[in-house]
Amino acid sequence: MTAPLLTPDAGAIARAVACLREGGLVAMPTETVYGLAADATNPAAVARIYEVKERPVFNPLIAHVASAEAAFAQGDFSNRAKALADGFWPGPLTFVVNAIEKTTVCDLARAGLETLALRVPAHPVARDLLSAVGNPLVAPSANPSGRISPTRPQHVAADLGEKIDLILDGGPCDVGLESTVIDARGEVPVILRFGLVGAEDIAPIWPGVRRGGTGGAPISPGQLLRHYAPNARLRLNAETPLDGEALLGFGAVEAAENLSPSGNLGEAAANLFAMMRKLDAAHDRIAVSPIPRTGLGLAINDRLERAANRD
Ligand code: TXA
Ligand code: MG
Repeated sequence: MTAPLLTPDAGAIARAVACLREGGLVAMPTETVYGLAADATNPAAVARIYEVKERPVFNPLIAHVASAEAAFAQGDFSNRAKALADGFWPGPLTFVVNAIEKTTVCDLARAGLETLALRVPAHPVARDLLSAVGNPLVAPSANPSGRISPTRPQHVAADLGEKIDLILDGGPCDVGLESTVIDARGEVPVILRFGLVGAEDIAPIWPGVRRGGTGGAPISPGQLLRHYAPNARLRLNAETPLDGEALLGFGAVEAAENLSPSGNLGEAAANLFAMMRKLDAAHDRIAVSPIPRTGLGLAINDRLERAANRD
C-alpha cells in the first residue's frame, strides 16, 4: 500500500499524531527538506527508520523538538550555545551537544553515542506536529540512505511511498538544503555540515567558529564523501556541456535545467535537489555550471561535490 499524501489540516495532523504514537513513520515537511519522522523515544519506531532508509546504524539521527526549552531539557547547552539557539531557532541549525542523563531520546536514535543532535524546525506543519505529539521526533531526510534528499512530497512518495505510513504535503521546501550542523560542545562551535546558516551568521553571536571534519572518522556521516548521489555521472564547474551531457545551469546560460537564471544562490539551493532528480531520471551524464563559493554557495558546492564523488 502506498502512503496517503494528505493536506496538513487539523484532521491530517491528528491522524499523523496517532500514527506516530503507534510507532508509525510520517513524512513531514520542514523548511530544509522533507523528514521521515518517528517517535524518538520509541526504539522500535526508530529501528524502522533505519530499515526503511537502509541507513547504517552507526549514523545517528537528529531529534526535532517544538521549542528551545524542549531542546535544553534533552541536551547540555552552554550559555554560548543557548544564545546561538535563541538567535536561530526555530530554523535550519542543528546543535550536537552532550545528551543529558535523563534524555528521552533512545540510544538507537543516537547510535549509542553520548552526544545528541537537536533542532527546532521552522516549518508550520512540523511545528504543529511536534507540539501535538509532545515527544521529540527523529527525522532524517526522507530518502534512501546516500541518495538525493526530497524537497517535494512527490519525491518522498516515489522513493519511500510503499514503506512508510503517511505523507504530509507541505508543498516545496523553502531552503532546499539540509540544516547546518554544528558541534556545540566546546569553546568554539565547529561546523560539521554546511547549510543556510553560515560561519558569518554564527560568528557575531559565538566568535571563533571553525570548519570541522578534517582527518579521523567523520563524526557527522553527512560528511561522507559520496552522498546525495544521483545515478548519472556529474561533472562540476562546467562552462559548457560536452556532447551527451545535460547542463544543470546557473546564471545566464542555455541549460536543460537552470538553478537560477539570475544567479541567486537562495533560489539555486531551493531548486538543487529537484532539478538533480529531474535530470537524473532522463540523462546519464550531467554537467553543472560553476557556482560561486560564497555564502550559501559553500553549502551548494559541498552537496554537489559529494554527489559527484564516485569513490
Ligand atoms: O535539515 C535537516 O537537518 C533535515 C530535516 C528533515 O530536519 N534532516 C536531516 O537529517 O538532514 P539526516 O539524518 O539526513 O542528517 C543528519 C546529520 C547526519 O549527517 C548525521 O550524521 C548528523 O546529522 N548527526 C546526527 N546526530 C549526530 C551526532 N550525535 N553527532 C554528529 N553528527 C550527528
Ligand atoms: Mg540525509
